[in-house]
Amino acid sequence: MTEEKNWENILLRYKFAKTMLEKELEIIIGDYEHRTSSHPVEHIKSRLKSKESILKKLEKKKVKTTPENIKKYVHDVVGIRIVCSFLSDVYDMVNIIKSSKNLKVLEENDYIKNPKSSGYSSYHLNILIPLYLEENIEYIEGEIQIRTLAMDFWASLEHKLQYKLPENIPVYLRRELYSCSEEVKSLDTKMQHLYDIVKKYTDN
Ligand code: GTP
Ligand code: MG
Repeated sequence: MTEEKNWENILLRYKFAKTMLEKELEIIIGDYEHRTSSHPVEHIKSRLKSKESILKKLEKKKVKTTPENIKKYVHDVVGIRIVCSFLSDVYDMVNIIKSSKNLKVLEENDYIKNPKSSGYSSYHLNILIPLYLEENIEYIEGEIQIRTLAMDFWASLEHKLQYKLPENIPVYLRRELYSCSEEVKSLDTKMQHLYDIVKKYTDN
């Protein structure tokens, strides 16, 4: 196989895995919404990492470009972000994904309970997606990020600012961004409180 053909083959498998994951989520979330008559998801975004970004990540990790190293070091070639309304919706989504018979959770990180030092918060699940190929089942890794609208607001803007900045962000800017993340957290807590009150009314 030529090198180009080999790359095409690798990227095609990730593309199939992304489609599988999107469909699985559509079904399990659709079923959840039907059962609970609720709409916990504001929107879902999915993306496939480009060949260039994969190469850049391997370069950063100082390892050779091989299919094995992509599997070993690049866990987010398939990336899906589920943006929910309320905090409790995030945990409901985590639970339904964890109960899926088709997906296998490899790793989970609750950056909501334990935010990153930047202030970043989200719930991350690294999962294995089954690909039913002609002769066998191949498992491809994917990363699911689950967060509230407020967390998404912070992460998107912080990412935009990071992009414009040099490697070493001035300390005061880092502090300000962290402080914004605390405000976001407080908003999410307040909104959850209101949601709990409203739910009590509607459940009665
Ligand atoms: P990777 O090698 O990239 O997987 O890093 P990691 O394993 O240390 O981190 P993790 O997989 O938990 O999170 C990686 C992803 O989370 C990134 O690609 C971003 O989408 C998101 N993320 C993590 N930290 C930050 C942050 O400080 N700001 C923003 N905006 N996003 C972040
Ligand atoms: Mg990771």
